[in-house]
Amino acid sequence: RFRTIHHQSGSDPVQNPPTSQGLSTRRELYERDFPVYKQPVEVGCFSLDSGRRFFNDSRQMRYYVEPDRNPNFDLRDGYTDRFTKRDDSVKEKLDHILRWIVVNRSKLNSRSTTTSSCGLDVDFVTWRGHLTKLLTTPYETREGWSLAVTRFRDTLYISEVETEAARRERENRTERHEEMMYWGYKFEQYICADSLHSSPDPGGVVNTNEAFCTVVQTRLSDHRLLFSGEVDCRDKDSSASAPPASYVELKTSAEICTPKQRSNFHRFKLLKWWAQSFLPGVPRIVAGFRDHEGTVVSVETFHVSKISHLIKNEYNCWKPTVCMNFCSDFLSFVKCVAVEDNPSVVYLFCWEPRRDVTYTIHRDSHYSFLPHWFVQEMTN
Ligand code: A3P
Ligand code: MG
Ligand code: MG
Repeated sequence: RFRTIHHQSGSDPVQNPPTSQGLSTRRELYERDFPVYKQPVEVGCFSLDSGRRFFNDSRQMRYYVEPDRNPNFDLRDGYTDRFTKRDDSVKEKLDHILRWIVVNRSKLNSRSTTTSSCGLDVDFVTWRGHLTKLLTTPYETREGWSLAVTRFRDTLYISEVETEAARRERENRTERHEEMMYWGYKFEQYICADSLHSSPDPGGVVNTNEAFCTVVQTRLSDHRLLFSGEVDCRDKDSSASAPPASYVELKTSAEICTPKQRSNFHRFKLLKWWAQSFLPGVPRIVAGFRDHEGTVVSVETFHVSKISHLIKNEYNCWKPTVCMNFCSDFLSFVKCVAVEDNPSVVYLFCWEPRRDVTYTIHRDSHYSFLPHWFVQEMTN
């Protein structure tokens, strides 16, 4: 699985030897039985308010209100006069999750009760979105990624580093692209109510700083995972089921008019949607299909557990088992490589399409991402 490769690296980082190990992303290597993936359990949640401030509670939870099947929602409404956009040049790294860990440490099992060791009882801490990128890697042909890894008290923390290409894209978005990014959030506003007994308010301001995040624990093969992900809303029916089974993911997509469009939707979009929701155990995706003017013309529910059946008739289609086995093998690779337990050491794993995953090692560099307050808190 880990092949010997010759990896290129810059001049400043400490290089691992030129014959170091790399990890292949070829799909054929991951077509094995589906690995163990334990039902994700929600161990907590947190909220980020309109100013991106952290709260250890569910104050930003929103409630799903079933829309008309053919609703005519105008997604352009409120752009830009009722829109507050999060500053995505600010890199928050794992800070909110680390804050959650510090406040809720007693809820997480401590590895040893008999010694003073206060390690977390998990192998990996990361964002759900980073894992989504790993799951889709064997099928990704356009965008690479960089993931910074630090081993601290025997837990591996994984935090994304924006690639040069991604930074250029972010800084050079067209006005059309900027507006289309708003459409997804506007759709959420048409569907979500702020409380159990209120209705959605499409006249309000869309503020993308606000977020409700679930924190879940699960296991992939022998990797114990703790990760957090944003949740769009939950079912109003409290008798329905406990989270994450009550959570609903909202999505928008271009209206499907031709067989080619349907095939592309299955092969590319459903892969990303499935990976994102499968990881935290969110069972339902409610999709709004919009025309080119940004009007939602139809709404459809996708059950995450049925998506893999839906796509089976597509030629050369993606397979959930390839996604999960690649992720599992990547995490094994990380465990082997990132051996030094040191909060200021970063192992930077990089991947570009059609290449192997490679890594470089960085000491006390600008890549270090565990804040002093976290290290200090966890060392007590
Ligand atoms: P859509 O999902 O309808 O495209 P999420 O679906 O993950 O809850 O994200 C909500 C919205 O944020 C998306 O709506 C999209 O508008 C925007 N968004 C999320 N990730 C994005 C990305 N990588 N690039 C651009 N926009 C993104
Ligand atoms: Mg969301
Ligand atoms: Mg969404």
